Amino acid sequence: MSGKIEVLIPEQDVSARIAEMGQIISERYQGKEVLLIGVLTGGVFFFTELAKNITVPMEIDFMAASSYGSGKESTGRVVITKDLSRSIEGKHVIIVEDIIDSGFTLKNLSELLSEKKPASLEIAVLLDKPVRRQVNITADYVGFEIPDEFVCGMGLDYEQKFRNLPYVGIVKD
Ligand code: IMP
Ligand code: MG
Repeated sequence: MSGKIEVLIPEQDVSARIAEMGQIISERYQGKEVLLIGVLTGGVFFFTELAKNITVPMEIDFMAASSYGSGKESTGRVVITKDLSRSIEGKHVIIVEDIIDSGFTLKNLSELLSEKKPASLEIAVLLDKPVRRQVNITADYVGFEIPDEFVCGMGLDYEQKFRNLPYVGIVKD
């Protein structure tokens, strides 16, 4: 891979949008406490920035799921590789993930978590590629809808690299 990255969403736009999302979530959960569940690994960059922009009391936890090999296509098979460390029963849970693509990962995770009897369950993603959806699932909070391009940065990787880019870029082969 030549490593050419073209900027799709600049850093300032990413930050401004995440601040906005934090505000919307804070207003919606006024008077309540939330449990933010970050999906490792890709979700962490968005997760920390979003968490800092939410003003209601919160707890955090993490899960890891893997549905991808090393390439660009989803396998449809989702494996939980790290489970939650505490019960979510009765809590207002928000799953925080980098992107919703085919939808397999979040569909699986949200079904799994809803069986654990949270008081409520919502999904926040930084990016959404709606044209790629293969299962019926939508996120409650979406940072940006993007076209069908393989992107990296803000937690998203291409062959495990580029996660640390502070912007969202398109991987050019
Ligand atoms: P889904 O299960 O197909 O919705 O895919 C979700 C996971 O695939 C995300 O958590 C990402 O790790 C990965 N993914 C999907 N699209 C991209 C992309 O454009 N760049 C990097 N990773 C991606
Ligand atoms: Mg991921």
